[in-house]
Order: sequence, then structure tokens, then C-alpha cells
Amino acid sequence: MLEIKDLTVKINDKTVLQDIDMTVGKGELTVIMGPNGSGKTSLALTIMGHPAYKVVKGKILLEGEDITDKPTEERALKGLFLVFQDPVEIPGITLLSLLTAALNRRNNKFDLTEPIEGLREKVLTEAKILGLKEELIERELNVGFSGGEKKRSEVLQAKILRPKYIIMDEPDSGLDVDGVRTIADVIREMIAAGSSVILITHYPRVLQYVDPSKVYVLYHGRIVAEGGRELIEKIDREGYSWLGGNK
Ligand SMILES: Nc1ncnc2c1ncn2[C@@H]1O[C@H](COP(=O)(O)OP(=O)(O)O)[C@@H](O)[C@H]1O
Ligand SMILES: [Mg+2]
Repeated sequence: MLEIKDLTVKINDKTVLQDIDMTVGKGELTVIMGPNGSGKTSLALTIMGHPAYKVVKGKILLEGEDITDKPTEERALKGLFLVFQDPVEIPGITLLSLLTAALNRRNNKFDLTEPIEGLREKVLTEAKILGLKEELIERELNVGFSGGEKKRSEVLQAKILRPKYIIMDEPDSGLDVDGVRTIADVIREMIAAGSSVILITHYPRVLQYVDPSKVYVLYHGRIVAEGGRELIEKIDREGYSWLGGNK
């Protein structure tokens, strides 16, 4: 279980999250919705331990352990993973070398470049399922990738690493209908394999294909609504206008 308790977060003295309470059960799909600028990405980055996001109140517990002050690497080793909304370009590192290093690190190997048997084939198989061109796995990570290719490459990493808790920050944005369906397939697969998924999304369309346990709506850094599928339907019908803004 991932628990967020009474969390208040600042960045550059600006409060971006206020009094957040959230519980993510094991093997559950938790959905976070909200208009642009409501704090969704801030929450994702805070859970991962981004140093710019200062927790000024509250805590984050992972399977009962307080990880509020733990470095990102430790959180990752404990099973947290983030699919970035805007993946950064990493010149000099290929997708394959990144995955090799991550898996070796997890297995306490000294040499992170040690080749892993069968990994290349596995990555190629997943790339094909996700509609990612074969050559991309040996090109510099995200360098010159299209928006959709970056998203697919992020999801591919998640599929190979099989994190216990995966946060997906708008994995569906910028994807066509087939892309959205593929993302939904991955989410269902992860849940079926026992992972917990936190899906952050702006649009209800990906939610047609998945079955959330809980839905939270963030607005101006606060959770303003909490419930089930009825909230998605409300947002689908009315957008976010009922929150008081015009988004
Ligand atoms: N690095 C930053 N410095 C200052 N303000 C920021 C920074 N990053 C995000 N914010 C602000 O925090 C608020 C929430 O942003 P964000 O978490 O990206 O929202 P969302 O993902 O819901 O669109 C916005 O008002 C945004 O301008
Ligand atoms: Mg965002």
C-alpha cells in the first residue's frame, strides 16, 4: 500500500499541494484527474522524491515505511516507477543500456553494463507490441523521438522493469485512439500482474477501457472530490466547470 498523509508541498516557496490524503491499494488502479495546473505532476514528482518539491507537512508511506525523505534511487529500488509526462532526452544512453543498468542495479551487480541474457529480445518483443520502431531501442534515449514515441518508450520501460507501484503521468496525451487502447491494455496487464497503478489523466477517454478502484480530482493543489466511476462520467459530461474555474 502507498499512503499519502496530510501532504503539503512547496516549490520555490509556492504551495503546489495542500493537505493531500490518498491511499493506493496493492493491485489497484487509482485515477487522478484535474485540469491543467492543478498539481498532478507535482504530486507524481513528490512521490518520486524530486528534490525541488519540498514536503513541508505530512508524509509518504510505502508499505508502512516512511519514505518522505528518501532519495529517488531508493524509492525506485523499493518498486516505485514514474512514466513521465514530458520525458527528458538523455544523450549517450540508449533505451537498452538504461534497462540493462536498472536491472543490474536491482540485482546488486557491480558492473551495471553487464549484458542481460534475453533482454534485447524481450525489449524488441515489447517494442513491437507497443508499436515502437525497432531501431529506437539502440538510439540515444528520447533524442529526436516524437511525442508518441517518447510515451511508448516510457511505457516499455515500465513493462520490462515491472515496478510494484507505477505512476503514469498523462500517458495517453498526444496519442491516437490505437495508442490510447494500447496504454489501457498495459494498465490492465500491470494490475492483473499485481502491480498498483496510479493513472494521472486529463481526459476521460482512456478510462473507458479500464476499471479504477478509486478516482481523485485535484484542483488548485487540493483533492476536491473522491469517488468512483461516477466522477469520470461527471467530468466526461461537464468537464471541470463544476469546480468553479472555466477549464
Ligand atoms: N518548477 C516550478 N516552479 C514554480 N511553479 C511550478 C513549478 N512546477 C509547477 N509549478 C506550478 O505548480 C502548479 C501545478 O503544476 P503541475 O503540477 O504541473 O500541474 P498539472 O500536472 O496538474 O498540470 C502550477 O501552478 C504550476 O505553474
Ligand atoms: Mg502535469
